[in-house]
Amino acid sequence: MIDLRSDTVTRPSAAMRAAMAAAEVGDDVYGEDPSVNRLQQAAAARLGKEAALFMPSGTMANQAALRALTQPGDVVLASQGAHILRYESGAAAALSGLHIREIGAAGLFDAADVHAAVSPGDHHYAPTAAVAVENTQNSSGGRIFPFEQLRHVAVAARDRGLKLHLDGARLFNAAAATGIAVDRWAEPFDTVSICLSKGLGAPVGSLVCASAATIERVHRFRKMLGGGMRQAGILAAAGLHALEHNVERLAHDHANARRLAAGLEELGYPVEPQPESNIVLFRVHDTRRFLRATRERDLLVNPVAEGVFRAVTHLDVSADDIEDALRRLRDIAAA
Ligand SMILES: Cc1ncc(COP(=O)(O)O)c(C=O)c1O
Repeated sequence: MIDLRSDTVTRPSAAMRAAMAAAEVGDDVYGEDPSVNRLQQAAAARLGKEAALFMPSGTMANQAALRALTQPGDVVLASQGAHILRYESGAAAALSGLHIREIGAAGLFDAADVHAAVSPGDHHYAPTAAVAVENTQNSSGGRIFPFEQLRHVAVAARDRGLKLHLDGARLFNAAAATGIAVDRWAEPFDTVSICLSKGLGAPVGSLVCASAATIERVHRFRKMLGGGMRQAGILAAAGLHALEHNVERLAHDHANARRLAAGLEELGYPVEPQPESNIVLFRVHDTRRFLRATRERDLLVNPVAEGVFRAVTHLDVSADDIEDALRRLRDIAAA
């Protein structure tokens, strides 16, 4: 089986499992889990923030962060197709009373989009409170927010008195692809969520990184959402292992994605956009037939829209697996 549905399908390696088994633990609701504390310190230091809080998922990390930056009834500006709007089960509306307004196109927006979308300061309008950026952006094919454009967006947001949240579920991919370190990407943001359970290969875990005062607020909302965990050091140990061993190698996933994209195009499956990180979006004529044919050949890819599939490279697929996947795809194209 070659599983390219998502970078979340990775399984912890033997070394990661050993680190988990050996983890020192305590009750993290009392703040007494040394492994969680170590992970939080390591993440805060990497992201250049004062503090960090361990979360069970990227969704909870995003939603607790957004809640900490806003009040019910506020508007948050986000990219078209933003995970916080499309794929978090309506949490922002249901749990925090937020309107999320999509701006820009194909996962990106600029400073002018921010200025144009800010509500007039009049009591008829819901106040605009924050801008959320997703980097890399999942639904647009792992697109990287251009660094200078992001700077301009941040200046516009600050000009208008808005808070800034970064959904950095794949921020380490953006850093690996650009050579711009995660702390530089994180610098303009009030809150940054990162995921350990995607490209970094941990079984569970995300963090919110922010100032100590903001983390205190996030902590309260984590509790409210039921995200207080007890001997979570077993999971934190996997996260620490991931940060130590699985960051440098992300460049291999990106090279594999580029190779897969080139192979798909040679077989007549158009790739759009060209992959900038580890996600490849490609077109097929017949969604159902393609899905069946790939499943029959033990190749897993995800349909994301009519005629569009997504393949994601990750820790558990090698360059040889990509060649093998392309051989199976060649079979399908020839059938
Ligand atoms: C960009 C982005 N943000 C947040 C999440 C949510 O992460 P989780 O599945 O851990 O809730 C995902 C998950 O795929 C994602 O792609």
